[in-house]
Amino acid sequence: MFGKIRFWRECMLVDLLIMYASASRCLSAPMERTDIIFQNQSISDGQTLISERKNFVLGFFSPGASSYRYVGIWHKQNDVSERRVVWVANRNNPMKDKGILKFDNSSNLIVLDGSGTSFTVAYGVGVQDLEAAILDNGNFVLRSITNKDNIVWQSFDFPTNTWLPEMNITIGTKLLTSWKSSDDPAVGDYSFGPGITNASQLIIWWQGHTFWTSGGWDGDVNALIPELKSISTIPLYFHCDNLTCTYTPNPDSRFTKFVLDPNGSLNIAQFDPDAQSWTLLWRHPASCEVSNLCGVFGICNNNNILPSLPPCRCPEGFAEQEQNNSRKGCTRKIPLQCNGDKFIDMPGMRLPGNREKLSVMGDDECQSACMMSCSCTAYAVLDGCSLWYGGLTNLQEGNNGSGVGTLYLRVASISSSGHKILWVAGVLPSVAFLIFCLILFIWIRRSKNKGKGKQDGHHSLMTTDTIKLWESEETGSQFTMFSFSQITNATDKFSTENKLGEGGFGPVYKGNLPDGKEIAVKRLAANSGQGLPEFKNEILLIAKLQHSNLVGLLGCCIEGEEMLLVYEYMPNKSLDFFLFEKSRRALLDWEMRMNIIEGVAQGLIYLHKHSRLRIIHRDLKASNILLDTDMNPKISDFGMARIFDPKGTQANTKRVVGTYGYMAPEYAMAGIFSVKSDVFSYGVLLLEIVSGMKNAGSQRRGNSLSLLGYAWELWNEGRCHELIDKSLHGRCPLSLALRCIHVSLLCVQEQAADRPFMTEVLSMVTNENATLPDPKQPGFLSLLVSNRTDITEETCSLNGLSITNLDGR
Ligand SMILES: *[C@@H]1O[C@H](CO)[C@@H](O)[C@H](O)[C@H]1NC(C)=O
Ligand SMILES: *[C@@H]1O[C@H](CO)[C@@H](O)[C@H](O)[C@H]1NC(C)=O
Ligand SMILES: *[C@@H]1O[C@H](CO)[C@@H](O)[C@H](O)[C@H]1NC(C)=O
Ligand SMILES: *[C@@H]1O[C@H](CO)[C@@H](O)[C@H](O)[C@H]1NC(C)=O
Ligand SMILES: *[C@@H]1O[C@H](CO)[C@@H](O)[C@H](O)[C@H]1NC(C)=O
Ligand SMILES: *[C@@H]1O[C@H](CO)[C@@H](O)[C@H](O)[C@H]1NC(C)=O
Ligand SMILES: *[C@@H]1O[C@H](CO)[C@@H](O)[C@H](O)[C@H]1NC(C)=O
Ligand SMILES: *[C@@H]1O[C@H](CO)[C@@H](O)[C@H](O)[C@H]1NC(C)=O
Repeated sequence: MFGKIRFWRECMLVDLLIMYASASRCLSAPMERTDIIFQNQSISDGQTLISERKNFVLGFFSPGASSYRYVGIWHKQNDVSERRVVWVANRNNPMKDKGILKFDNSSNLIVLDGSGTSFTVAYGVGVQDLEAAILDNGNFVLRSITNKDNIVWQSFDFPTNTWLPEMNITIGTKLLTSWKSSDDPAVGDYSFGPGITNASQLIIWWQGHTFWTSGGWDGDVNALIPELKSISTIPLYFHCDNLTCTYTPNPDSRFTKFVLDPNGSLNIAQFDPDAQSWTLLWRHPASCEVSNLCGVFGICNNNNILPSLPPCRCPEGFAEQEQNNSRKGCTRKIPLQCNGDKFIDMPGMRLPGNREKLSVMGDDECQSACMMSCSCTAYAVLDGCSLWYGGLTNLQEGNNGSGVGTLYLRVASISSSGHKILWVAGVLPSVAFLIFCLILFIWIRRSKNKGKGKQDGHHSLMTTDTIKLWESEETGSQFTMFSFSQITNATDKFSTENKLGEGGFGPVYKGNLPDGKEIAVKRLAANSGQGLPEFKNEILLIAKLQHSNLVGLLGCCIEGEEMLLVYEYMPNKSLDFFLFEKSRRALLDWEMRMNIIEGVAQGLIYLHKHSRLRIIHRDLKASNILLDTDMNPKISDFGMARIFDPKGTQANTKRVVGTYGYMAPEYAMAGIFSVKSDVFSYGVLLLEIVSGMKNAGSQRRGNSLSLLGYAWELWNEGRCHELIDKSLHGRCPLSLALRCIHVSLLCVQEQAADRPFMTEVLSMVTNENATLPDPKQPGFLSLLVSNRTDITEETCSLNGLSITNLDGR
C-alpha cells in the first residue's frame, strides 16, 4: 500500500518551473521605454519612470521637511509646484540616504539604500519573465512580459493615503491610511474605506473608532456624498458592491483623487486642465463636531484645528491621559471627594448632550442639586438647570450661538500635595473591593449550586486561584463593573440592529459607551445555568491578561439573572468570516495571513508561558480569532480555558468541550489536555489559513474527507503546493507557504510529545533557516475523516488505518 506513495517533494519545484516556462512562449523584443524596467534594470535616486501618456511618475522623494528618501508615485502635472505623492512604497521603512529600486535574484522588487538595508516592495513569486511598469492610471504593477494581463503584484492592492479612479478600496483589507504627518508618510491614526457592519457606507476611523460615516449606498451613484450633487457638473460616480467601492470621474479623463490628511480630513480634488491646478471639490472637515474627538473631559477648540496644533486641551485640574495625545482624554489630577468638592466655571462652552434637565431653578439650587449626588460632575444654568453625570464628552469651546453658556465643572477642592496619598487611598480600596466582589460572587454562586448538584464536573477554579490571578499580573487593566442600565443604554436596549451574532452561550451585541468607546457585549442566556462556569472562568482568566493578541475584556455586569461580558469591539469580525467565504477569502493576502499566523502564535505563547499562570485555551478555532481594524488577530472566547499547573505537564477532565476538527486526539478521546492540545488546534488553524479550506467540512478532497488527511496525502506524494489557497493566485513566497504547511503537520502529529511547543512553532514559521524534522502521521485521521461522534469505536481501528484504506469509504 505504502509502496504506491512516492516521496518526491523536490519535484514540485521542477513542476512549477515547467509551468512557468511553458507560459513564456515567444519573447518579443521591447522598445526602449520610460515606463518599464526589466529584471536586469533598476532606477536609482534621481531617475524616474514615467507612464506612457505621461500621467504619473514613479521616483524618489523626501516629504516636507524630512531628509529621509522614499519611493513614491505622483501626478506628472504640477510636478514641481505642488507635488502630491499618491503612493509610497516604503512608507514605514524610510531610507537614510540615496538608494536604488531593483529586482533581487528571486524576482522580488526591493529598495536598497547605501548601507545595504533593503525593503521588499513586491514579491515576484519566482516568476521568470517579469517587468515592473507604471500605468497611466497610477497603478504600479509587476507583470509577465509576455502576458501583460498576468499581474503578479500591483500597488493598487496596497493603498496609502490616496484613492485614485479604478482603484478598489475594500472592507477590512484595502483601506486608505493617513500619513503620520506631512513630513512622515508612515501609517497614521486615520483610516478610510467601506464599513463592515454596513458595507454600503464609507467610514473614516480614528484608531479604529468610527470618526465619520458617509451616506448609505442605495444604487444612486452619489448617495454616499450627496453634497457632490450640488456641483454643476457632477464630478464623479461611485460604484460599490458588498465588499468593494470604486469610482469614475466625470468626465472620465479628469484627474481626480481622494486624499486622507494626517488630521483625518478627507479631501476630494479634481485637476482643472484650463487653470492647470487642482480644485478642492469637497472636504470632510476634521472639526469638533466629530464625536468624542478629544476624549473624556477633553475640550475641543474649533479655531485650533490644524495638523500642527492639537484642537484639544484639558480643563484646569485635569491632566492629559497620555502624553502628547490629548485625544485620549483627560483625567483628574485629584479624584473627587464627594463632600470636599468645588466647581470651576468654564464660560463659552457648547453644552454637551446627555444631560439631566431639572425644572427652572436658580444658580444656587442647581449647584446644590449637583453637589448632593456624588456622581454629578457638572451643571449649567441655561433655560433651567442641567446636570451631567460621569465622564463628559464633546466639550467644545470657541463657538457662538445657541447652546453656549457657562459650564460649572466639579473638581476636588484640596490642593495637589495630598495627591499621592489620595491616589493610594482611592485606588487600593477599589482593587480590594473588586477582589472581594469576585470572591463573594463565586461563593454565592457555589452555595446556590450546591443544591442543584455540580454542573461543572471538574471544578475549574478555586478562590485561591482567583486571588493568585489578581495578584499575579501587573495592575493597570481597566476592568469595570457595569450596571445593567449602562449596558442597556449602550446597546440601545439590546436592539436587533446592534446584534452582532450568536455565540455558544448567548447573543453578542455592539454597544457605544457614553464616552464614545465601542464595545461588544456578550449576554449569557438567562437561567440557562449552562454558561455559568464559563462566565466565571472567562472573567477570572482574561480580565487580567493583557496582550495585543488577546481580545480585551473591559468589564462585566452581574445583576439578578443577567450575566454580561463587555469586550473591546472588533470591527472586522472573526477569521472564519473571511477565510471560509470565497469572495472574502480573496481579500486575505499573504502578508495578512502571515500576520495572523504570527499573531495567534504570539497570543498562545503568552498564554502558555509568559502570563504568570499558564493557561490552556482548549477551544482555538477560526471563529475565535477576532480581527481588529488593521486585521490584527486577537484570540477570544476563554470560556473553556483552564489554568494549568506549571509543575505538571498535563491535566485531565471528564468534561470534554471543544470543537471537532480542532481537538487533539488525546483530549477528545481521553480528556487529557496540555499545552500540546492547543498546539494541535493551532496546527489545524495554520493549515486552514494557508489552504483556505475548512478542516471539519464534509467536502471530500483527494482520498480523504478531511483537510488533515488530504494534507498528509499530498505531503507523502510531495504535492503540498497544491494545498496553497488558489485565491492567493500564487502571490505568496512559495517556500514560506510550504514551510507553513510543514509546520502545521508537525503540530498535528498524533503523539502530543512529538508536537513542538508554541515558541518552537513560531521560530519554525518565521526563521527561514530553521531545519524542520519530518512529520509523523497526523492524529485522529479516522475521526476527522468520518466526522462521527462515536469516538471510542473509531479509536480501536485508528492504528490499523492507512490512507489507502480510506479509499473504499
Ligand atoms: C534585459 O532583459 C530584457 C527582457 O528580459 C531583455 O530584452 C534585454 O535584452 C536585457 N538587457 C540586457 C542588457 O541584458
Ligand atoms: C542571490 O541571493 C542570495 C541571498 O539573497 C545570495 O546569497 C546569492 O549570492 C545571490 N545570487 C546572485 C547570483 O546574486
Ligand atoms: C477592482 O475590482 C473589480 C471587481 O470587484 C475587478 O474586476 C478589478 O480588476 C479590480 N481592479 C483592480 C485594479 O484591482
Ligand atoms: C446601512 O445603510 C443603509 C443606507 O443608508 C441604511 O438604510 C441601513 O439602515 C444601514 N444599516 C445599518 C445596520 O446601519
Ligand atoms: C450583497 O448583499 C445582499 C444583501 O445582504 C445579498 O443579497 C447579495 O447576494 C450580496 N451580493 C454579493 C455579491 O455577495
Ligand atoms: C488638515 O490638514 C490639511 C493639510 O494636511 C489642512 O489643509 C487642513 O486645513 C486641515 N484640516 C482642518 C479642518 O484644519
Ligand atoms: C511632547 O510634547 C512636548 C511639548 O509639547 C515635547 O517637548 C516633547 O518632545 C513631546 N514628546 C514626544 C514623545 O513627542
Ligand atoms: C463670537 O462672538 C464674539 C463676540 O460677539 C466674536 O468676537 C467672535 O469672533 C465670535 N466667534 C465666532 C467663532 O463666531
